[in-house]
Amino acid sequence: MATIGIKEATPGLSLSRDVKDGSGHLLASSGQILTQKMIRIFKIWGIPELRIQDSADQDQAVEDEPLLPETIRLQAEAVTRHRFQYNDLNDPFSAELFRISCLKKGQRLMQNPEDSPQENLETETDRPPSPLDKTKVKKVNIDFLINKTLRLGSIPDIYYKTIAAINNPEASLDDIANIVSKDITLSAKVLQLVNSSFYSLRQKVDTLTWALALIGTNQLMTIVSGVSAVSLFKHIPSRLLNMVSFWEHSIACGTAARLLSGYFPERMDAERFFVAGLLHDIGRLILVQNLSREYLSLLQYVKKEERFLFAAETEKFGVDHSEIGARLAVHWNLPESLVSMLKHHHFPEYGRSFREAAIVNLADILVNALEIGNSGETLVPVIEPKVCQELGLDKEILQPVINEIEDRLEETFAIIYGTLE
Ligand SMILES: [Fe+2]
Ligand SMILES: [Fe+2]
Repeated sequence: MATIGIKEATPGLSLSRDVKDGSGHLLASSGQILTQKMIRIFKIWGIPELRIQDSADQDQAVEDEPLLPETIRLQAEAVTRHRFQYNDLNDPFSAELFRISCLKKGQRLMQNPEDSPQENLETETDRPPSPLDKTKVKKVNIDFLINKTLRLGSIPDIYYKTIAAINNPEASLDDIANIVSKDITLSAKVLQLVNSSFYSLRQKVDTLTWALALIGTNQLMTIVSGVSAVSLFKHIPSRLLNMVSFWEHSIACGTAARLLSGYFPERMDAERFFVAGLLHDIGRLILVQNLSREYLSLLQYVKKEERFLFAAETEKFGVDHSEIGARLAVHWNLPESLVSMLKHHHFPEYGRSFREAAIVNLADILVNALEIGNSGETLVPVIEPKVCQELGLDKEILQPVINEIEDRLEETFAIIYGTLE
């Protein structure tokens, strides 16, 4: 390992430590190979020096890549190829994601030969699924479903009070902190998040007012809405959906979206991406909660027919979970940009901002590919070439982003989900 000044940095060198800006936002991760574009971004953000690997470290890193037995490697590749069946593996970005996914699958198979996290449902029956009768599209009334959900469990009052205070120009940070502090769970989560590895603060933040001054009121609003949303759905029975697996998928997607947003020089509101990822599939919970029998048979159907669940939802209900989730976000008065990210996370080109929706889309695909949790899809959604083009991301970012998702998942999961009764 060696330290070099930013002026000595040249493309091709490998970082041995994360690079973060003054606020702790990740600019590049350990293991990433330097490009001209990255060096330019570091200069813009005033990064004085970098820690890089010397060639001996790099040789060691290659040697450290785990060697899998041939049978496991072949099994992992066959399963992963099946899950990637709609992706173009000639595309370098998709091919790299496929390579990493094969490796991860092989490692899991080594630990558990039965590894199959897609089996997250305890289905009601072993009967074969009936074919989807396209003549019987039952167009659901989204507002009816949402109102029913909101009657079953209401969003905590503290949510609306906090949003009102944030929108009140007269309210001070102390006033807002006083409202949040009335909810012990919520205030603990805000402090835990601010003190988590995402912010890399040098000192521990122990008061809400200080936390608010650091993260800003917009970020607080998104954290509060995310935490409130999780609590609203905590009573869905495991017979219908494995909630741990669902939130693992969602929290990992939020983490991935937050990390990906850090790759852009224009500073984006990182918490907004985290909450967009956290809530991106929340419409599915409304469908499962209100139309459980139909949804269970739809899950069996897509698995047997090797279809994407989001596409089958539209065939069955006339609408998919992204539309329903976005409408719920409107009910909660969430910002328009967040609503748009939820609504367009499967088809980002139709979003208010292609780039914002594309970040959530890519984050969802990464998490699906790596089988981190599960929200119902059995296949890896397609990485559209225009998504990579628009985002301008190189395939080299994949490994470090994936490493970061895995490193942070446990901590973030414990904060968002772990302490809910
Ligand atoms: Fe989705
Ligand atoms: Fe998803």
